[in-house]
Amino acid sequence: MAEASEKTDRKSNSGRTKSEDNTGIGIIDIFRIIAGLLLLNCIASYFVTGDSVTWNYRPWWIRPNILAARLRGPVILTDNELLQYDGSNESLPIYLALNGTIFDVTAGQRIYAPGGPYNVFAGRDATRAYITGCFKEDSIADYRGVEWTFVPTDVPHFVDKSDEDLSEAERGYRYEMVGLALEEVDKTIAHWQKVFRGETGKDYFEVGYVQRDPKLIDMQPIRPLCTAAEKKRPKSKFDKTKKYLRSERTKRAKKAQLEYTRLTNPALKEEAEKAAAGAGVKGHDEI
Ligand code: HEM
Repeated sequence: MAEASEKTDRKSNSGRTKSEDNTGIGIIDIFRIIAGLLLLNCIASYFVTGDSVTWNYRPWWIRPNILAARLRGPVILTDNELLQYDGSNESLPIYLALNGTIFDVTAGQRIYAPGGPYNVFAGRDATRAYITGCFKEDSIADYRGVEWTFVPTDVPHFVDKSDEDLSEAERGYRYEMVGLALEEVDKTIAHWQKVFRGETGKDYFEVGYVQRDPKLIDMQPIRPLCTAAEKKRPKSKFDKTKKYLRSERTKRAKKAQLEYTRLTNPALKEEAEKAAAGAGVKGHDEI
């Protein structure tokens, strides 16, 4: 009986073709599946982003502009030299700077060239305006004190009230709010840096940095907030802060307080004014 069934098995095996025998998935099939998935992914990316098949991911090594810029080496310009790259000279690229880093934004000519909606940012480091939104009066690099844009209106400024003038709860509240505001400033700058590095899809890229002595900015008095930023400040958050006291952010705010104390020290102010006059430092509006 067993012998008979073995015979039948052998018979049926010999009747099959080779491909029918090979019921598993071969290497070629795996490649086909991967290629199909990649294709689907590219199509999905194109439909979602509108123009990119890689979900807007464009590493620097596939961007010829960046490769060329890296080969040329960094562009190093003073604030005054940077001015000529504001798009008014068509034979030059359009540069803007953010927090001292220079970016090529020629691809955004429509936006940054003269007559464009954001020409005010071209040819200069206008970091302060990116945070306050006061494009006209704040198109300068000095963004000290700008965190107050995000500090609620019921927090007294370090210049107006020292720590001793405040209760422990008020002090904690101030530290907490200034700490959060400093983080907001960092986030805003990081966001625009991403845009200008071309990481959000635009063909912009980093080319170099502004050569300036940070002391020259430090020497000038801290600007008050522009009217629009002052108006935008949030309302009180006092009741919600108690649980945050002595957090990590509080330490950062403490640093800000020390900076204000240093900068509002009358002796330092006098010394700074003398040094600025001696160095022929121009006011920001004169640059
Ligand atoms: C702090 C406030 C603001 C800053 C720093 C800012 C900055 C900028 C920058 C740098 C660009 C160009 C981005 C690029 O190169 O792709 C831009 C584009 C744009 N912004 Fe603003 N912006 C602000 C507020 C506003 C507000 C309040 C509006 C709306 C009323 C607005 C509307 C636009 C529009 C429509 C564009 C696209 C322009 C175009 O492609 O022609 N922005 N913004």
